[in-house]
Amino acid sequence: MPTGQAPATSIAAPANRPDYGRSLLPLWALDPAVAYLNHGSYGATPHEVLADQQRWRLELERGPVRFMQKTLPDALRANAAALAHFLGAEPTDLVFVENATQGVNAVLRSLSFSAGDELLTTTHVYGAVRNTMRHLAERFGARLIEAPLPYPLGDPQIAIDSLAGHINARTKLLVIDLITSPTALVLPVAALAAKARSVGARVLVDAAHAPGQIEFDLPALGADYVTGNAHKWLFAPKGSAFLWARRDRQTGLHPTTISHGLDQGFVTEFDWVGTRDPSGWLSTGAALAFYRRMGGSAIRAHNHALANEAARLLSDALGGEEGQSAALRASMATVRLVGFAGQDQPTALALNDRLWREHGIEVPIIPFAGSLWVRVSAQIYNEIGDYRRLGEALLALRGA
Ligand SMILES: Cc1ncc(COP(=O)(O)O)c(C=O)c1O
Repeated sequence: MPTGQAPATSIAAPANRPDYGRSLLPLWALDPAVAYLNHGSYGATPHEVLADQQRWRLELERGPVRFMQKTLPDALRANAAALAHFLGAEPTDLVFVENATQGVNAVLRSLSFSAGDELLTTTHVYGAVRNTMRHLAERFGARLIEAPLPYPLGDPQIAIDSLAGHINARTKLLVIDLITSPTALVLPVAALAAKARSVGARVLVDAAHAPGQIEFDLPALGADYVTGNAHKWLFAPKGSAFLWARRDRQTGLHPTTISHGLDQGFVTEFDWVGTRDPSGWLSTGAALAFYRRMGGSAIRAHNHALANEAARLLSDALGGEEGQSAALRASMATVRLVGFAGQDQPTALALNDRLWREHGIEVPIIPFAGSLWVRVSAQIYNEIGDYRRLGEALLALRGA
């Protein structure tokens, strides 16, 4: 059975002072010719975690019936417990889902609302989540409210004040990002959750980007529900994500796919949602082992410092402001692009494509609040030269 141990072929970083930078790239399948500055969108899974996943797949195929019926239930729970432990949660309060979108859908589609109720989020909400909220609001005749948050943002109190004005007796649900997707802001979620709870609203925290990027104690967020990805910043295989629910919110919370476990309890219901490849979930423990061995808190500190340095470098090179203060930033940073013609999505996609094709750089260009922004991720396989290369490429494309 797979052990979650690193295969002998992996390159081990020194335990106490990891030697981060491009020299670590061979630990991933990433194309070494590319400056990969978008860890945020889909993560990147190291070879050793993929190898662990493949061992699980082969173990399954050696005896599919015994595996699914005997091996899987305990192995799944062991991995859920490892992830729960990492997040400061109780194992029985956490289940696997395939991605944060599915986690959000499971919660929202388990709730019902009345006409006139308000579902609150911010203008920085992730598009797929906005759609899910809109779908729910239309179904129940409720209202979707997107509180505008100023951007750039430097002060968490401004986020609190901006949202507070929209929280009232009609607010039944707050969906709030721990780290926003288009704008890379670490929001003061615990304070916002407390405000929403004070009017009796339920709170769903979308922590898609948070595990591995920032340290957080999951129950201390004060939410009713939290969903997040292990496949982004924790290096797990694609399709490894979690949903946590406060114990008194677990009854009546259903997966997006109803299956054998209906109404048999939170864990039973989510742990079997039909025949699927569970290997990504089962290799979450191996991903956590990799994350810890590569430094854990040292990864977060390095990535935060590199994101700050990258933001300064790009802002100086391009003359555009940074999207967030260092206090509201984790391992991603945005910088406003000035002097480029157009601010719409087609322009952004065209620029992203030219950066990749002509300069070998993968980085998202995001239209937001009337401007284009470049959003860089910082990961331990990156180094400052990657961002210098990006700055030079953007200058060349701006002049072109
Ligand atoms: C805030 C936020 N929510 C949800 C998602 C969706 O994640 P997934 O594609 O894993 O469902 C993302 C992805 O980047 C995100 O940033």
